[in-house]
Amino acid sequence: MSNFDTLIFEKVGGIAYIALNRPKVLNAYNTYMRDELYQVLGAIRDDPEIRVVVLKGAGEKAFCVGADLTEFLTAPSPTIARQVRWERDVWGLFLSCPRPVIAALHGYVLGSGIEMALCCDIRIASEDTQFGLPEVGLGIIPAAGATQTLPRVVGRAKALEMILMGSRISASEALDMGLVNRVVPRSELYPTVDSMARRISQFDPEVVTNIKQAVTRGLDLSLLEGLEVERLLVSTTIRSKG
Ligand code: COA
Repeated sequence: MSNFDTLIFEKVGGIAYIALNRPKVLNAYNTYMRDELYQVLGAIRDDPEIRVVVLKGAGEKAFCVGADLTEFLTAPSPTIARQVRWERDVWGLFLSCPRPVIAALHGYVLGSGIEMALCCDIRIASEDTQFGLPEVGLGIIPAAGATQTLPRVVGRAKALEMILMGSRISASEALDMGLVNRVVPRSELYPTVDSMARRISQFDPEVVTNIKQAVTRGLDLSLLEGLEVERLLVSTTIRSKG
């Protein structure tokens, strides 16, 4: 187990567990967390032993309540912030993670918390989860991808309703709109996620990686182009077995 200031990182078998770990401030996302996530995601990308990644939040009350508002109030100029973002593109690293990433969600999942969950491949929520994008009320645009990732997951109308209203939705509403795959009782959250992660980790890692690649790359392409990507990945997989 490697401990960082804002994260707990553990490898158990082929599963990497990342816990956002600032429970006193409900795992608010600050620049330290950004830098540590960047390190951890880079290490995961380069570690052939890791087959599945699980992302969760430490503490009882929240997965993550979004940007740390104490930093937000002292934020650097937009130009510097943009430069830093390019240099530390955590969201890009999340989205390009070759292994499947499962988000285990509980309590508050707000702002960049929901945006982080949207960068994951599978989202499992406990019954107490509340989702929301409060940015509009703070006079800002979601900046960790939600304007692009949310409509791709729930469709344009539901995404715009959530982003423009800035109101919170429950776990069951999130399930109805397809924002999460499953809702389970709080006590079942980690056992459910662990058993999914263990199952996926038993399959051939190259096949799993290529399936994820086919699905995620295909979503940004036309059907014909997507079928071509699938064809290429099928031949690559067969060749490597031959
Ligand atoms: N950034 C920094 N600190 C935060 C935070 C954030 N986004 N959200 C909560 N905290 C801190 C609180 O200041 C408080 O710290 P304190 O104990 O030192 O006073 C601690 O976390 C607990 O939060 P609290 O507000 O007391 O809990 P609550 O259960 O009453 O309310 C929320 C929970 C999530 C409804 C409320 O904290 C909230 O609205 N947070 C802001 C969410 C937000 O706007 N995020 C930004 C998105 S861009």
